[in-house]
Amino acid sequence: MAERMTLEEIRKFWTEQAALHGVSHAASWSDHPVMELEVREIVSRLRDGARVLDVGCANGFSTVQFASQKQVRIRGLDYIPGMIDQARARLATMPALRGEVEFDVGDITALGEPDGSYDAVVVIRVVINLGNVEAQAKALRECARVLRPGGLLLLSEATVEGWRNLNALRVEWGLPDIPMPGFNLYLEEARVADAVRDSMDLVEVVNFASTYFVMSRVVKPLLAKATGAPVAVADPASHWNRWASQWPAIGDYGTQKLFVLRKR
Ligand SMILES: C[S@@+](CC[C@H](N)C(=O)[O-])C[C@H]1O[C@@H](n2cnc3c(N)ncnc32)[C@H](O)[C@@H]1O
Repeated sequence: MAERMTLEEIRKFWTEQAALHGVSHAASWSDHPVMELEVREIVSRLRDGARVLDVGCANGFSTVQFASQKQVRIRGLDYIPGMIDQARARLATMPALRGEVEFDVGDITALGEPDGSYDAVVVIRVVINLGNVEAQAKALRECARVLRPGGLLLLSEATVEGWRNLNALRVEWGLPDIPMPGFNLYLEEARVADAVRDSMDLVEVVNFASTYFVMSRVVKPLLAKATGAPVAVADPASHWNRWASQWPAIGDYGTQKLFVLRKR
């Protein structure tokens, strides 16, 4: 495991990502194909007319896709002002979404939103940045609080279980473990439902990225090693990764998973 960053270092990391990448998806993650899979999974669970909160929205790369693909009113929040500046700059270039999308600074562990005010809360790769399990549980409870009864929490996060399975598969084929980044604390799956058991039911856990992770993190490096092809193994912007992201998801080898929870 990489050395764990402090909360201050994590905040600095995201501030730098905002300045470095502007409106690019890379401010959030370089792995564009898996981000597209995330958006597809979330969009398929959003209903037209819904009031949606997207917490930890970064520069709004995914937020505007939700609003473009569904008729939703969506508010994006991030605790880094530089991310929100970029998200607003993006929105300024999309007049069709004005009035439907807004961005503001906000912290997932202390949301300034009223109780029961959203039909859906979207959280993508945010809770893993909170440094400890207590803050993670608090964040999940905050998301539950702002949902109306029957509302959905759509939570796409990296899990310990998926990461371990992927590394076990890699080790079987002579590849080293992929370390957990120092700014992340992956979620233990049982803790997700447990944190909000008083108010929410777990509807499903979707291993939407399992095949993509096997293709990009196991098969690709093995093929590169076996053939000596001059392929950039870690580069997601390749034909291989694009193609790999089009396969149906099979198994439990994706670090990234979608949790769908419904408020009672
Ligand atoms: C990996 S990015 C994910 C961005 C976005 N959800 C997406 O789909 O691409 C994580 C984001 O979470 C934000 N974040 C981390 N801790 C947060 C907190 N306590 N409250 C709100 N946002 C936070 C970071 O600033 C960063 O923009």
